[in-house]
Amino acid sequence: MSKRKLIVAGNWKMNKTPAEASAFIKELKPLIKGSRSEIVCAVPFVDIQTSITAARGSRIKIAAQNMHFEEKGAYTGEVSGQMLKDMGVKYVIIGHSERREYFAETNKTVNKKVLAAFKYGLKPIICVGESLAQRDAGLTAEHVRYQVKAALLGVTAEQVKKAVIAYEPIWAIGTGRTATAEQAEEVCRIIRLTLKELYSKRVACMVRIQYGGSVKADNAHELFSMEDIDGGLVGGASLKTAEFAAISAG
Ligand code: PGA
Repeated sequence: MSKRKLIVAGNWKMNKTPAEASAFIKELKPLIKGSRSEIVCAVPFVDIQTSITAARGSRIKIAAQNMHFEEKGAYTGEVSGQMLKDMGVKYVIIGHSERREYFAETNKTVNKKVLAAFKYGLKPIICVGESLAQRDAGLTAEHVRYQVKAALLGVTAEQVKKAVIAYEPIWAIGTGRTATAEQAEEVCRIIRLTLKELYSKRVACMVRIQYGGSVKADNAHELFSMEDIDGGLVGGASLKTAEFAAISAG
């Protein structure tokens, strides 16, 4: 069994000014030298430029936390995939539960954004995950399968290989209540089987699936060792260099 290359992405959310972002990445660089994981920092839009400059000469890739699906036009306050690509952004988080909850993103807009990300040469990190009420009602598998299918409508096999799917149970985000490795693996496996149904076994085996939700240095290794978990999307613990570097070690 050969596992996929781990991808550890920090989701900074609305944290760090451009100066703080630059200082953070410079401090992180030497700490991740030995890591074999792909390392991504998803920074606020205004931090992208300084972060890319600071990351030069390292393996750290810079991601955005959102994008609009149109290329340009009258969408006040929005940023397009074309703009991100032009700046040197590699990945973009799409459909994070906070975007779904606070900014009215739906499966439909998530799908449009995923298609737009591919159009402009960005790799989407597509977030899915159930609420506590859904878990308690036994709806986790059904809900997550639906979110995956809806996000990938019209996405080709060639494209989906470049996508990352982040399974983030909402009840574990920012709560300190991490899913157990078994709970996380169970759902990541369901996601991989859904990919197999939609595409093929070969394609499903190539897509990287992250776990997110209170990932920390002391639980990352166990989570990332599970067969269908290929790294993590890390919020709070990605804001400290030593902690994030330890998580990136896999
Ligand atoms: P957390 O956030 O690690 O702080 O729980 C994860 C996320 O929202 O991506």
